[in-house]
Amino acid sequence: MWKKVFDWLDERLGLNDMYKNVLDRPEPKGNWWNTLGSASLFLFVLQGLTGIFLTVYYTPSPDHAYDSIQYIMNGVAFGWLIRGIHHWGASLMVIVVFVHMLRVFVTASYKYPRELTWFIGVGLLLTTVGMGFTGYLLPWNQRAYWATTVGTQIAGSVPFVGEFILKALRGGSDLSALTLQRFFSGHIWMLPAALAALIGVHLFLIIKHGESHFPTKED
Ligand code: HEM
Repeated sequence: MWKKVFDWLDERLGLNDMYKNVLDRPEPKGNWWNTLGSASLFLFVLQGLTGIFLTVYYTPSPDHAYDSIQYIMNGVAFGWLIRGIHHWGASLMVIVVFVHMLRVFVTASYKYPRELTWFIGVGLLLTTVGMGFTGYLLPWNQRAYWATTVGTQIAGSVPFVGEFILKALRGGSDLSALTLQRFFSGHIWMLPAALAALIGVHLFLIIKHGESHFPTKED
């Protein structure tokens, strides 16, 4: 019965072809350093899932943001765990993505034909840092408020376009409800969408070119 269902779907979707192209590939000749890309992917999914749970209770307004986080920590069953994973997962993801990039650099895997994989990777690193930056403001406590004040000021010191960037980030000259709304929207919609799209292209290129490896005697 299951085989019939599978065959029916396979004829229409090409499941077997998908499996062959995406998963049934030769095992990469790597070591533990080659697992960091997959670790980054795992952390992206983990952050997405825990983040979705957090939005059930989090309220992005200056009057309620801080209290909603306190409620998640003390009132919601396992809220502290979900927030803890999301909080530490964010730092871990930045570190893991960065070390993954260092590995790619040290093994010179950015060279032909993987230049585009590297460029997309640079976008991935910047977007991951952007996720951390926008997420930091959301608890709306003193540390978040002043860190974002300083962070946006630094962005504002870019020559010529600094003033525009500062106002675009803050939604005005000062930090306000608009800033919180913008950072929330960036954190849960814009940046994750960009990250998902970039990861999609990154993975497509990795499947297309296969994993690089140091040449052996046979090579
Ligand atoms: C969210 C961030 C990222 C995810 C999810 C991700 C995912 C992956 C995965 C699953 C692999 C294959 C396994 C491996 O080699 O570890 C890989 C390889 C690669 N990644 Fe990333 N990556 C990310 C960030 C980056 C960054 C920041 C760079 C560089 C700027 C980069 C450049 C590359 C390159 C050039 C390869 C091919 C390596 C090879 O063939 O040896 N990636 N990535």
